[in-house]
Amino acid sequence: MTFDPHAPVANDLTAFWMPFTANRQFKGAPRLLVAAEGMHYTSHDGRAILDGTAGLWCVNAGHGRREIVEAVRAMAGQLDYAPAFQMGHPLAFDLANRLVQGMPEGIDHVFFTNSGSEAVETALKIALAYHRTRGEGSRTRLIGRERGYHGVNFGGISVGGIVNNRRLFGGLLGGVDHLPHTHLPERNAFTPGQPAHGAHLADELERLVALHGAETIAAVIVEPMAGSTGVLLPPRGYLERLREITAKHGILLIFDEVITAFGRLGSATAAEHFGVTPDILTTAKAINNAAVPMGATFVTGAIHDAFMTGPDHLIELFHGYTYSAHPLACAAAMATQELYRAEGLLTRARDLEAAWADAVFSLKGLPHVIDLRCMGLIAGIELEPRPGEAGKRAFEVFLKAYEMGLLIRVTGDIIALSPPLIIEPGQIDQLFGTLAEAIRAVP
Ligand SMILES: Cc1ncc(COP(=O)(O)O)c(C=O)c1O
Repeated sequence: MTFDPHAPVANDLTAFWMPFTANRQFKGAPRLLVAAEGMHYTSHDGRAILDGTAGLWCVNAGHGRREIVEAVRAMAGQLDYAPAFQMGHPLAFDLANRLVQGMPEGIDHVFFTNSGSEAVETALKIALAYHRTRGEGSRTRLIGRERGYHGVNFGGISVGGIVNNRRLFGGLLGGVDHLPHTHLPERNAFTPGQPAHGAHLADELERLVALHGAETIAAVIVEPMAGSTGVLLPPRGYLERLREITAKHGILLIFDEVITAFGRLGSATAAEHFGVTPDILTTAKAINNAAVPMGATFVTGAIHDAFMTGPDHLIELFHGYTYSAHPLACAAAMATQELYRAEGLLTRARDLEAAWADAVFSLKGLPHVIDLRCMGLIAGIELEPRPGEAGKRAFEVFLKAYEMGLLIRVTGDIIALSPPLIIEPGQIDQLFGTLAEAIRAVP
């Protein structure tokens, strides 16, 4: 049967198995978005929905930006696709040069992928191969952290630490261990910015080194700010300590910055924000305002150069994707980066941070609110779970907020907020006013 785009279709939601979604609940009462502009989505029933989450932490420059739309449109007409294996197109090189300029000193090469999950797999593979190419092939162990989120592919869920993302999928990668998470609500609850307690948890890495032997460990991967698990900020001194210990033992440090890169905390990267430079840094999402799927793994010159040995005609790294550096993704990224520069968006979260933190802490004292955390333009609002119904209370707040014209994100009983960086102070007030009402409305 040939596909007729004009044929009427049944309004049927069954065929699409939706990702990370309660499919049956959704299909019983669908929430469809049909358009977006600036700070708002339009729902299928014609309502303006204030975007409190920048899509999925990714539309940092706001929706429907003409400059990005035009760049993608123009590239689609000029070069629809170019193979990335043994071939190239000029914009990919321009973009790589441009992106590394925004990275911390020493991180000066980039490998393109199509998602955050792929950026993570790429980082883990590069870390393993790096040690191997240097004659340290015994370094095969990878260390992640409890509650970490590194996407959904096998490497990512192996080093990740979110139980539901792991438990159904078998034995995962061997040779993986985990640091403890840093969530200490009994000591740090209701702290704006970096919590005071918990730096000592980085010392657990010394324990793992003593247990396994440094010569077996390739890399440690953490999110400098753990987003998907519910906005856990690094305790003061924690990242510095991790950097010290990894450097001491020749272990690579990978920062997964899929959420934090490109302005979320008020700096180009969390590495810059916290003054701690990893060896490898993964990004995606806001790299091109999520207009076309794209991810990117950044590495130091030392890591890159370790591969540049052997005969010239041989491929140095047997890794890559059909859509690595896709022309449309590159065009969107170039236009996005230019918008970030022209509008000062990479540091805007810093300017709004005080107003944002005041608004977050205005929720203190509302029913069931047991913790508030924030930095830059990000917030975690933790609700007390209902006994025997983990996650249900926050999900009901999510539904209520949507009904009231606000998009939030929930993970377990934690509400995570991360609006586009173009948000205006009046919209911050509106966001928290609506959210407070939604929290009050849910028992
Ligand atoms: C820290 C981190 N790593 C990896 C990913 C996976 O990205 P993607 O969904 O693009 O595969 C995410 C997604 O939220 C993330 O937050």
